[in-house]
Amino acid sequence: MIGYIVAIDEIGGSELMVYFDNSATTPPHQDVVQSFLTTSTRYFGNPSSLHKLGGEAEKLLHEAKRQVARLLHTDKPSEWILTSGGTEGNNLAIKGAVYGAKREEQHLITTTIEHPSVSETFRQLEEKGFDVTYVDVDEDGFVRPEAIEEAIRPHTTFVSVIHVNNEIGTVQPVKKIAQLCKGYRRITFHSDGVQAIGKVPIDITDLGVDLYTTSAHKFKGMKGTGMLYCKEGILLSPLFAGGQQEGTFRSGTQNVPGAVAMAKALRLVEEKRQNVYSDLHEISSYIREKLSKISDIVIHSPSKQVVPHILNFSVVGKKGEVLVHALEEADIYVSTTSACSSKKSSLSETLLAKGVSPEVAKGALRVSLSYENTLEEAQYFIEELHRVIQTVQSVKRK
Ligand SMILES: Cc1ncc(COP(=O)(O)O)c(C=O)c1O
Repeated sequence: MIGYIVAIDEIGGSELMVYFDNSATTPPHQDVVQSFLTTSTRYFGNPSSLHKLGGEAEKLLHEAKRQVARLLHTDKPSEWILTSGGTEGNNLAIKGAVYGAKREEQHLITTTIEHPSVSETFRQLEEKGFDVTYVDVDEDGFVRPEAIEEAIRPHTTFVSVIHVNNEIGTVQPVKKIAQLCKGYRRITFHSDGVQAIGKVPIDITDLGVDLYTTSAHKFKGMKGTGMLYCKEGILLSPLFAGGQQEGTFRSGTQNVPGAVAMAKALRLVEEKRQNVYSDLHEISSYIREKLSKISDIVIHSPSKQVVPHILNFSVVGKKGEVLVHALEEADIYVSTTSACSSKKSSLSETLLAKGVSPEVAKGALRVSLSYENTLEEAQYFIEELHRVIQTVQSVKRK
């Protein structure tokens, strides 16, 4: 039986479906929704208000940050800035640190496999006159720490490297890169951890990053909530002018229910990661093995140093978006590239960066799992994929 049941009766969706698009977003956990609801209704005060209701909300916010700080192994709750998610966190980290540095000449480094909320932020900074180096990856999609070191110049002030790539699932050597950046006192090091949370063990203090982005909806929290880790002493120029909440770094009334729900989601996903991880491995190994036997399929996610929840492959000669819609007919949900770019017809920059030809990249699909997925769902997916490959039209060759 295909078992992934999502409580979407109210919005008229199907009761049974195979949801393999968890890197785009996850359905929030019922307990998380309950925390959000309870906090929203019972503790609705503005944490900046001086009276008791404000004080209660402030306490809850502090407690949520304390839990996040503890679960991700950092020293202080005050090092966590509440944001609206990964896009804001990345923008605040990068622009905030670069503008906050107040230096005349700044050279910045990132990679060719970042999420658009990082790569487009660097492109904007380039338009403003900053000098940016985009470090390339090897054919498996890994950034070499030596390549980052070779790119460092006397005026390099900022380096940003994604922790887990959202399209192919590679785990980048962030700890090594953080260590080498530490050798240059003027460099601030940021990592986008949005796809890493709940999937790899994270000890932020041990990783040695200065800034680390998270987003709750990727691990069964609510949409519109995230926290940016900002190590004590790192100066950020705020993106918004206003009431100077969040230690002056992020003005705007805080989303306390979102923060409380995020802390809960993080605790739940960390429990799953520690207890259900091997099931996820089993499912993803099963899919990988079956895919490797289908002719015309090229698997892009390497088999080592990757998270088990992301598997990217191409069906050569077919169009990814056509396959997505054909699978949707069978109530199976996957994506082409990342959610943000999959509605644009552009090809995956990550695949192109690792040397995949545009012809092959056109047929790319990303399967992204969660701890709730089952082997039966994977079996059903493989059966339907076989059927769909036979039935959908091939891309016409030019
Ligand atoms: C690696 C990565 N960074 C950032 C983001 C943006 O996060 P949000 O959707 O919370 O803005 C995403 C979302 O897909 C992502 O995968």
